[in-house]
Amino acid sequence: MNYTTLLTSLDNGIFTITINRPDKLNALNKDVLNELDQVMDEVAANADIRSAIITGAGPKAFVAGADISEFNGLDKNAGMALAKKGQDTFFKIENSKKPIVAAVNGFALGGGCELAMACHFRLCSENAKFGQPEVNLGLIPGYGGTQRLTHLIGKGKSMELQMSAQMIDANEALRLGLVNYITTAENLLVRTKEILTTIQSKAPIAVGKIIECVNVAVVSDSSYTNGKSGFDKEIEAFGECFGTEDMKEGVGAFLEKRKAEFTGK
Ligand code: COA
Repeated sequence: MNYTTLLTSLDNGIFTITINRPDKLNALNKDVLNELDQVMDEVAANADIRSAIITGAGPKAFVAGADISEFNGLDKNAGMALAKKGQDTFFKIENSKKPIVAAVNGFALGGGCELAMACHFRLCSENAKFGQPEVNLGLIPGYGGTQRLTHLIGKGKSMELQMSAQMIDANEALRLGLVNYITTAENLLVRTKEILTTIQSKAPIAVGKIIECVNVAVVSDSSYTNGKSGFDKEIEAFGECFGTEDMKEGVGAFLEKRKAEFTGK
């Protein structure tokens, strides 16, 4: 299939999906989200695809977040719809029966960190930076980040990173278990493909079952399987933030390239 915001290539069963908006640091706008959704259907349907890599175009960013310019003017319901769309797309990635690995080649912020976390595991380059800076915009993560970051690195660090908007580097991401390996930028795709080549030599049905079982194990509270309550709560809270003055100030400040002044309203 042809995409306008994604580049794709197939090499020995490994499908590389590159988000291709480098001038906007590969920010996830509506088109990218729609195409990520479509490309996961292609991954599922095409028997020649055995596994996939998600990465970003250019030397600077994996994905620097949801496209903030599309937040302007959204209200609570539109915010909830946006979170639902992002979550549904990322569930498709997380629940893919074929392995999906993130090759994080720079900034993975906000929705970018959430996208990487929806993949089955992650490698990153030495210049990678991770963070959930939504609070700078008067927002919270809305594409599953409040849940997956907590599952991956534990409650205390997850709370701190989300509340402070602090960015962490590749070494700290490795220490926290957010990524499995760090490589040079040049070697990132090579190393990721080596790992996927090993995985592709194993029994595909068994690999798919591992994904299903691990996805259930890491979210051991039954609320996840019986109605996904943590994710549902995130959608509601994300939408509510869109009804605040602080969100308008935060988004306005980013777009006007100035510091936000929050009032708690
Ligand atoms: N949404 C929309 N546009 C974005 C973006 C995003 N999340 N992240 C970066 N961009 C755009 C910038 O507006 C800029 O566009 P312009 O050249 O038309 O002005 C371009 O990408 C390059 O980014 P810039 O900010 O100039 O690069 P930098 O090296 O100075 O800073 C970051 C890099 C990642 C620190 C900075 O872009 C940033 O803070 N981005 C937002 C991160 C964020 O809050 N993500 C969560 C969103 S919910």
